[in-house]
Amino acid sequence: MQTPAEYDIRDISLADKGKKRTEWAFQSMPVLQSIRKRFISTQPLAGIRIAACLHVTTETANLMTTLRDGGAFVALCASNPLSTQDDVASTLVRDCGIPVYAIKGENNEVYYSHISAVLDHRPQITMDDGADLVTTLHTKRQDMLADVLGGTEETTTGVIRLRAMAKQGILRYPIVAVNDALTKHFFDNRYGTGQSTIDGIIRSTNILLAGANFVVAGYGWCGRGLAMRARGAGANVIVTEIDPIKAIEALMDGFRVMPMSDAAEIADVVVTVTGNKAVVGREHLGRFKNGAILSNSGHFNVEIDLEALERVASSRRTVRDFVEEYVMRDGRRIYVLAEGRLINLAAAEGHPASVMDMSFANQALSVEHMIKNHSALERKVYSVPEPIDKEVARLKLDAMGIKIDRLTAEQEQYLASWSEGT
Ligand SMILES: NC(=O)c1ccc[n+]([C@@H]2O[C@H](COP(=O)([O-])OP(=O)(O)OC[C@H]3O[C@@H](n4cnc5c(N)ncnc54)[C@H](O)[C@@H]3O)[C@@H](O)[C@H]2O)c1
Repeated sequence: MQTPAEYDIRDISLADKGKKRTEWAFQSMPVLQSIRKRFISTQPLAGIRIAACLHVTTETANLMTTLRDGGAFVALCASNPLSTQDDVASTLVRDCGIPVYAIKGENNEVYYSHISAVLDHRPQITMDDGADLVTTLHTKRQDMLADVLGGTEETTTGVIRLRAMAKQGILRYPIVAVNDALTKHFFDNRYGTGQSTIDGIIRSTNILLAGANFVVAGYGWCGRGLAMRARGAGANVIVTEIDPIKAIEALMDGFRVMPMSDAAEIADVVVTVTGNKAVVGREHLGRFKNGAILSNSGHFNVEIDLEALERVASSRRTVRDFVEEYVMRDGRRIYVLAEGRLINLAAAEGHPASVMDMSFANQALSVEHMIKNHSALERKVYSVPEPIDKEVARLKLDAMGIKIDRLTAEQEQYLASWSEGT
């Protein structure tokens, strides 16, 4: 395998470790394995140039090689400055011939220069996680838009941004919202984020969750999983919401529900997972107890108002990897994890491979779908077609050796009928 002429990574000598970890993850990705096998024989992506902006993890490496094995040329950059696994970036370059532009801890300027470097490959398909690739193309690299056939989007926040672009009539090509697939957000957002967020908090702090007041801001797909797992670890879980229906759901799931201003006064740990900004804002900072830990698992680092915290704090220092201590003027100490960026990817390894198997199977099949159907699609955001979603679920069940029942002819008729009541 050739090493690409151009790339920007931390250290190519990390590749051995990255290769072994990527192989380890692939063992837990049977759905992607079966797609890769089919892609190798049918070459559905032959000659297609793909630019991907995703968290550079072992699971992403396996998606990249699956796309490459389907005939595509693939270039990859990070979708967050802190989420890159440098050893994985190295094996992709050295062993897989894939140009990667990503270094863990890169500053914002380098982050955007890496997005630009990936776009220099003139993609026909964009694959985004948070829509930074698409928004950069539409604002700074419009000359490239004519080549693009379509794209895919991985996460809730990216889908919200793209739907806003489509609504304003400025989106220039069709996108498949991978996050909309049930085999994505039911599992990745809920069980993936639930487990890996706790993992990131524990790895960075080594705190005991049992008995702690653990505040989850946002009871969406991610928040549900996080609240469930925090309770499993023995925490007293409190939920904050702005949606009355989600608030009732949290209450009936057995959690306390209250506004952030009340939760802040008793919180030992706060985790934001809303996709919104300033969920922990200036008005809450005076209420936290000494030692409160603030963390975020939503896509962007805007959920905790760090600028406000900087303004009201009298000093700041790093006390552990990914733990920043802010001392308030009244002497209270507030801790912020991973600069308010996605804690599960910054301080841990992101979601387990078994759950990313379904998310990335949807990505691979959505790219294939886009290549086949782009000329019939409008400049809109489409959900993953139901047959793809069902196929991913079927393949996952097969791989787990789980069998389920099928409708009998009589049952099908009953469900299709309005006249069979009693
Ligand atoms: N860390 C990860 O690996 C990971 C994985 C998947 C998604 N995400 C990101 O996590 C975020 C949430 O995703 P989701 O799929 O759970 O979205 P969702 O839309 O299902 O849930 C978001 C919830 O936050 C609530 N909310 C909004 N503003 C709020 C506020 N000010 N206070 C309290 N609650 C508020 C909404 O009512 C909603 O219930 C997004 O940014 C998404 O991109 C992160």
